[in-house]
Amino acid sequence: MTDNSKRPAWFTEGYNHIWMPYTQMQTSPLPQAVRSTHDTHIVLEDGRELIDGIASWWSACHGYNHPHIREAVSKQLETMPHVMLAGLSNEPAFTLATRLAALTPGDLNRVFFSESGSVSVELAMKMAVQYWINSGDAGRNKFIAFKNGYHGDTIGTMGIGDPDNIMHGPFSGLMAPQLVVDLPGTDEERVAFEVFVAENAHHTAAIIMEPLVQGAGGMLFHDAGVVRFIREVCDQHGVLLILDEIMVGFGRVGTLFACEQAGVVPDIITVSKSLTGGTMALAATIATDRLFEAFLDDALEKCLMHGPTYTGNALACAAANASLDLFESEPRLKQVAAIEAHLVKALEPCRTIDGVVDVRVKGAIGVVELETLGDMYWIRQCFLDRGCWVRPFGNVVYLMPAFTMAPKDLEMLSDAVVDIVGAWSERLDEWRS
Ligand SMILES: Cc1ncc(COP(=O)(O)O)c(C=O)c1O
Repeated sequence: MTDNSKRPAWFTEGYNHIWMPYTQMQTSPLPQAVRSTHDTHIVLEDGRELIDGIASWWSACHGYNHPHIREAVSKQLETMPHVMLAGLSNEPAFTLATRLAALTPGDLNRVFFSESGSVSVELAMKMAVQYWINSGDAGRNKFIAFKNGYHGDTIGTMGIGDPDNIMHGPFSGLMAPQLVVDLPGTDEERVAFEVFVAENAHHTAAIIMEPLVQGAGGMLFHDAGVVRFIREVCDQHGVLLILDEIMVGFGRVGTLFACEQAGVVPDIITVSKSLTGGTMALAATIATDRLFEAFLDDALEKCLMHGPTYTGNALACAAANASLDLFESEPRLKQVAAIEAHLVKALEPCRTIDGVVDVRVKGAIGVVELETLGDMYWIRQCFLDRGCWVRPFGNVVYLMPAFTMAPKDLEMLSDAVVDIVGAWSERLDEWRS
């Protein structure tokens, strides 16, 4: 039972029944009770207002409650919230598919909708395996993926994530064994990687990676050349390439899609999170014409046998169409560039703080890597005391704000990071012991 005397009834009653994500409910502090959101702020039931430094798990790229998305969803709710997509169709889903095909590079022209990032990656995996079956090469059901990678929490996606990940390690017996290797950086590593792919191509359906930033695996950056190299290796050895842009897609790293910076077109791309501006659960798995054509046949079994109940949900697709409108009508990529310029300068003082391992910025992502977080709850509380919602994990303190954040709020966030990392460093001996 919990001491919730100052909290609203829905909280005190509900906390004893809800199962919270990524939370050890025996030791974790209680979650904040949120009443509402506006702009880039979270309003708590006790009246406090927090600046959101991580845009609700990197999704609310336009800030909260944008009137354009609200109007689009309200209008859609009045006409039709949802119809099943097999045998029926709806305008928001078809329009969104057309728009995503136009926005993504090359011939990524076929869009399959699902309701979460993890499921969109599972779909990419199924598409890749079935592509080879339909092409008469049925033994390819392995994936090459990378250490520190993260692609979701479902059983299939856990198998292609980092095997040492605290979230997924215990389930190793449940997951299909995959080929998870180091991301090749140096020339030597590239040579070794190519040999590895050559040896394993015969049973490999695809290589999957998060381009430019490995997010949940530690906010690690690599340059566009790595993505280009991996595309070349795929081409050389006849393996498909899946790029998971669930976190980096829609402007987060400075271009609409990260693969644009590498000049690479994957065979399949997955997107979610910012797709609806952080308003509704929606993801898309987008395949090239070549891949899709392998599913066309007189035989029913060659089609993609997958159909989540809410695929192509009209409400979510209306939200996504409205979010795309905002990318067209408001200067999102310029805002990302301005956030990047601010973070580069503002986080720089962290570099000389004892215990800081690295400071790095890419697009609207600012990261301070520490030797160890020490007491994660203590750091989170320090941010709350400064009126900021920031949620460090692993050994990183990071910011990933909405692109629309006002400069003064961004400054409050980055000042808080510098001060709190400074306070953390004063207790370094404690954290190290
Ligand atoms: C790169 C990447 N792929 C997949 C996922 C899983 O998405 P979801 O949480 O919507 O299932 C995430 C979520 O953080 C992600 O960052």
